[in-house]
Amino acid sequence: MLQNIDKILEEARQFKAETKKEIEQFRILYLGKKGALSELFKNFKDVPADQKKEVGQKINQLKQFVSEKIDALQAGISEEARTDDSRDLTLPGPPVQAGARHPISIVRNEIISIFGRLGYTISEGPEIEDDWHVFSSLNFPPEHPARDMQDTFFIEKDPDILLRTHTSSVQVRVMEKESLPIRTISPGRVFRNEAISARAHCIFHQVEGLYIDKNVSFADLKQTLLYFAREMFGKHVEIRLRPSYFPFTEPSAEMDISCQICGGKGCNVCKYTGWLEILGCGMVDPNVLEFNKIDSKKYTGFAFGMGVERVAMLKYQVKDLRLYFENDLRFLEQFKAAY
Ligand code: DAH
Repeated sequence: MLQNIDKILEEARQFKAETKKEIEQFRILYLGKKGALSELFKNFKDVPADQKKEVGQKINQLKQFVSEKIDALQAGISEEARTDDSRDLTLPGPPVQAGARHPISIVRNEIISIFGRLGYTISEGPEIEDDWHVFSSLNFPPEHPARDMQDTFFIEKDPDILLRTHTSSVQVRVMEKESLPIRTISPGRVFRNEAISARAHCIFHQVEGLYIDKNVSFADLKQTLLYFAREMFGKHVEIRLRPSYFPFTEPSAEMDISCQICGGKGCNVCKYTGWLEILGCGMVDPNVLEFNKIDSKKYTGFAFGMGVERVAMLKYQVKDLRLYFENDLRFLEQFKAAY
């Protein structure tokens, strides 16, 4: 028996296995169900008692040798695979899908960049606001019907806490904490209790603008907005200002840009008027300056507010607002080329 084990050990030592298949054959030959080792264990019961210890040790040594040899052979194979130079390491890897900015972010960033070139800083304020910052300090008297125009979402029962309906609230926060002169834009999200349709959504984005200094005039406002319109929509764009009403500006206006589709001749995009409405603006009402402790005899200012979705709709000719919120990749992927 002992000699037999030595013979098997010697054969195992000599065994040459290089491929995966050969290593498997080796394993089956020695460790398999009908392999050499299981045969030895089977015959172990017939070994005389005084030899059992020595024979047992030998069989275990053989088993250990075979297991270690299999491990070593397998490690050798993977080592070889690693240095296998039949692989072409210069082949390009699988393509990486690049993401893209959302069109609303693209337009917002462009608005920020245009006003940045005019020296405007960026300011932000909270989305959950109080009545003072959204309405009262902007010259909305308590019972004024203009409050209804804004379809406010109130939070719980306290009518003082609400979701801001416009970013004009940030004007107030800036006036409270910053020193004059002020030249800032405030991009942000706003909320209105409106039914969702192609033209309206309950969440959308605005950019507010505010400029306060000595001798700021309506002519400055007009020139600033003309610069903005031409940077955003092209250098042949014309603007027109129509008288309007906002509680926080006096006089107030709404600005239209000439329709770029028909060049002002009239088409179904501009509803045959040649003009497209884009923003609200005006001279800051002296009451608003005074509410915020700014001397309205010394200082004047202008303000404007625009909807980012509105600008994006005009820029990209996308007529259904809902597309901006659905995150359908077939829509979003069309903006990949833009920054
Ligand atoms: N806050 C107005 C709105 O949400 C937009 C607006 C109009 C802002 C005129 C202004 C402004 O600063 O002067 O409809």
